[in-house]
Formats: sequence, structure tokens, C-alpha cells
Amino acid sequence: MIRQATMNDIQYLLPFVNHYVQRQMDPFKSGLDFYARIPDFTLTTPNGFAPVIGVLRILNATYAWLHLFGLEADVIKTQKFRDFVQFQIENARKIGIRTIVTDAPLNAVLNHFSGRKIEASERTVILNLMNAVTEFKIAVNPQNLSVHDLNSSENKECRRGTRTVRDAALSDAKVIWEIINHYALHGEMLPKSLIFIQQNIRNYSVIEREGQIVGCAALQIMWNDLAEVASVGILDELRGLGMGQKLMTHIIGRAERLKLHKIFSLTRQIPFFEKMGFHKIPKETLPPKIWKDCMHCKKFMGCDEAAMIRELEL
Ligand SMILES: CC(C)(COP(=O)(O)OP(=O)(O)OC[C@H]1O[C@@H](n2cnc3c(N)ncnc32)[C@H](O)[C@@H]1OP(=O)(O)O)[C@@H](O)C(=O)NCCC(=O)NCCS
Repeated sequence: MIRQATMNDIQYLLPFVNHYVQRQMDPFKSGLDFYARIPDFTLTTPNGFAPVIGVLRILNATYAWLHLFGLEADVIKTQKFRDFVQFQIENARKIGIRTIVTDAPLNAVLNHFSGRKIEASERTVILNLMNAVTEFKIAVNPQNLSVHDLNSSENKECRRGTRTVRDAALSDAKVIWEIINHYALHGEMLPKSLIFIQQNIRNYSVIEREGQIVGCAALQIMWNDLAEVASVGILDELRGLGMGQKLMTHIIGRAERLKLHKIFSLTRQIPFFEKMGFHKIPKETLPPKIWKDCMHCKKFMGCDEAAMIRELEL
């Protein structure tokens, strides 16, 4: 069976990832980054064992880096493996990725789908992006990079006249960025860059009305059992119509499917979060690593936000 990973799969993923970490061939910045990237993982699970693991790491609005762990020559030749790669490609298409990049010895398999020659200038752009997302800790041989164009077919289920909540795609990134930065200017949330939103687009969900995005929210995994609900915003003129609640219900469902135990938020919207089943906790009870984003906040020395948490039923 091929499926998206959940937090319960960490036990299968870690040994493979550690093997590649030692060879500087994993696509993560750190252990924390590995946890945050669990939604990017796909795995095959015959008998609870994971022989092949894929990570689709988004580099920008065009490129995603497909990284495969646990490859052996005899696996690569099998139909099962081709199905696995096809699954990755379909995933990438749904998010709106135009080109898959790979540095693994996969060219022969991927060429079967969509391979093309890489230009020298494109190679430089891609390497820069890979270095940026891993903070220069990977050992990729530029000559081993290959690119594979996809015909994107984003999976948008928008129907006019309805309110639709869905996971975000890359083409939504700019509107999400505008909503977040509007509220950031008013001190309601932390600003985010467009490239950050693109690289983390799988964390975001959006709500549409009449085919237009009118709100967004993000679920950011912090540790093996804990994620932050952040950047929850509905356009000013549409607040108070139940859309925030609909979006949050979607985010909570997503957290449950990922098998997260707890979600928290740092917020001034206490009544709204209480309605959504959160309760206040002392900030100090949250792990210190959650404060790393706060260092960029202008209110860092005089924070007026409450920490709120919701336990999830798994
Ligand atoms: C917070 C926010 C996302 C809520 O979205 P919304 O669409 O306005 O909220 P909803 O209409 O879905 O409200 C859901 C419930 O929360 C309650 N609620 C929402 N905001 C409230 C407030 N400020 N005070 C009291 N109750 C509130 C509603 O009354 C409703 O309860 P009900 O079902 O009993 O009627 C939205 O107001 C917003 O974008 N605020 C600015 C950005 C922000 O501060 N985000 C939080 C950062 S994490």
C-alpha cells in the first residue's frame, strides 16, 4: 500500500533518514525540520515495514525536490516502485508543482515519465534553492541533478456560490501571503514571506467563497505529538459569518489524520479558540523550541498573546 505518512510512522522513517543524515544526503535542516516535514513523506507499507520512502520537498513556485530513501537496485526495477513514483508525481501535480527535481540515481525510472535535459543556469538556481532549504548541509553532486516537467492539474474543488474549505495549492500562495501580511501589519499575526508560504504550502488550508479565497490557516508541526495552528485569518469584511470555524474544523481534521495528539495556538482571539475546543495554558508549559518564531516578533519583549491548546481524540 502507498500512502501519506502520519506521526505514527516516525518509527519506520527515522532509521532510513538517519542513514542518509550520516551521509549528508537527507533534505532536512535539522531534526526539528524532519518532524515538520512529516506531511511531505509518502511510504509503502507491506506488513508494517517501509522499504521505500519518498519526500517531496517544495523549493519554490516551480520546483519540488523528490527525495527517495531506501533504494536498492532490485527495488528500482519493479512495477511497485514505478507505482510509487507515479503516486509522487500525482501528489506534486495536485499541489501545482511544475517541475520535479531529483538527485537520486533515479533518472532512468523518472525519464520513463517525464525527464528532460537540465540547463546550466537552471542547475544553479536549483542548487541554490536546495542549499537554502537545507542550510547548506547537503552533499549533492550538481551533475547528478535531473528535472522532470509535469502537466499541472491542481485539484481545486471550487463551486460558485459555495463555501469550500480545502488544502492549499501553490497558486494560492500569493493570496495567502496577502491575507497574512494584512493582519501582520495590524499586529494580529507574524508576517511571512511568499517563498516561505510556497515552500510550506502543504501546511496551509484555505476557504473559498464564490470561487475566491477569503481566509487561510496553517498547521505547523513542532514535535512528534504537537503542532501549532497559526496564521488563521478571514478577510475583514467577512468575519463573523462562521468561516473561521469552518476553516478550523478542517485544520483539526487534518491534525487528527496526521495522528497529532495536541494542537496549540498563540493568540489574542481567545473566545474564538475557546469555541473551537481550546483552553488556556501557561505559556511556559509549551516546549521552548516553539518560541523561535517569536524572536522575529516586534512584541517579543511585551507579548500580549495567550497560549491555548486542544487535545485531539485519536
Ligand atoms: C479569529 C478569526 C479567524 C475568526 O473567524 P470568523 O470567521 O470571524 O469567526 P466565526 O464567525 O467562524 O466564529 C466562530 C465562533 O467564534 C466566535 N467568535 C469569533 N470571534 C470572536 C470574538 N472576537 N469574540 C467573541 N466570539 C468570537 C463567534 O461568535 C462564533 O461563535 P458561535 O458559533 O457561537 O456564533 C477572524 O476573526 C480573524 O481573521 N481575525 C483576525 C486575524 C486573527 O486575529 N487571527 C488569529 C491569529 S492566530
